[in-house]
Amino acid sequence: MAKKPTRIVAVANEKGGVGKTAMVINLGAALVKEGKTVLIVDMDPQHNATSGLGIEVADEMASVYDLISDEGEASIADALFSTKWPGLDVIASHPDLAGTEVELVDAEGREDRLKNAIQPLVGKYDVIILDTPPSLSLLTINVFSCADEVLVPCQTQPYSFNALTGLFDTIGEVQAEINPALDITGLIPTFFDRRLRVCRDILERLKTDERYKGLLFNTIIRSNITIAASAEAGKPVVFYRTSSFGAKDYTGLAREFLMAG
Ligand SMILES: Nc1ncnc2c1ncn2[C@@H]1O[C@H](COP(=O)(O)OP(=O)(O)O)[C@@H](O)[C@H]1O
Ligand SMILES: [Mg+2]
Repeated sequence: MAKKPTRIVAVANEKGGVGKTAMVINLGAALVKEGKTVLIVDMDPQHNATSGLGIEVADEMASVYDLISDEGEASIADALFSTKWPGLDVIASHPDLAGTEVELVDAEGREDRLKNAIQPLVGKYDVIILDTPPSLSLLTINVFSCADEVLVPCQTQPYSFNALTGLFDTIGEVQAEINPALDITGLIPTFFDRRLRVCRDILERLKTDERYKGLLFNTIIRSNITIAASAEAGKPVVFYRTSSFGAKDYTGLAREFLMAG
């Protein structure tokens, strides 16, 4: 099947702290290193993807909030920032984004705000990656409505494994009601530490579970302190420390993602 010119990918998991934002930033940057152009759209009011790409969020700054709310006035050009790394752009988030759920409660076409807003940019990048907040909110629904694909990071811990059922149900409902074209491209184990039995057990369950094994990527993202340190420093790990496990794992993920298209 011919690939679409722009792949629009959501990184989603209703749990917090499973490595979603790290995946958005580092997969994005690793794809840029592979020669692709990437736009990251930060749909989490906590704006960790924006900050992790070295862009400081200020109160008066234009952001995705302006594009999806009725209050905002800024244009897409205002909300689109270049990062220090050519080929890697971001539409910034803003804490005000947290209010959209309430603001848009009765609004027409409220699920399609993001999809309509970024339409002018589709075709201009090889990949658009959408970060989501850790809850099933209107923001996440907007992401699922806009995306073609979902990547699911799964922390190799029991609570995260058990929560996959709920996430898969949610994606099924979105496919049935909002976006029939939405596909789960892959499930990626994160925070893997081979010394820990619990991590090895969860990996084994992912590999053998009928629901998940067909979606499981070969790439495993290991626990690696450099990933956290690079986010703190506002740099993707592949540009921060090339020799780290984090950089290696995310380079592998980028290559596997390109093959899986
Ligand atoms: N593979 C990893 N190894 C170590 N720390 C990580 C890894 N992935 C993410 N982190 C760190 O763990 C924390 C939570 O990850 P994050 O990507 O923000 O999760 P989420 O977006 O799902 O809430 C962050 O401080 C992040 O830098
Ligand atoms: Mg996050």
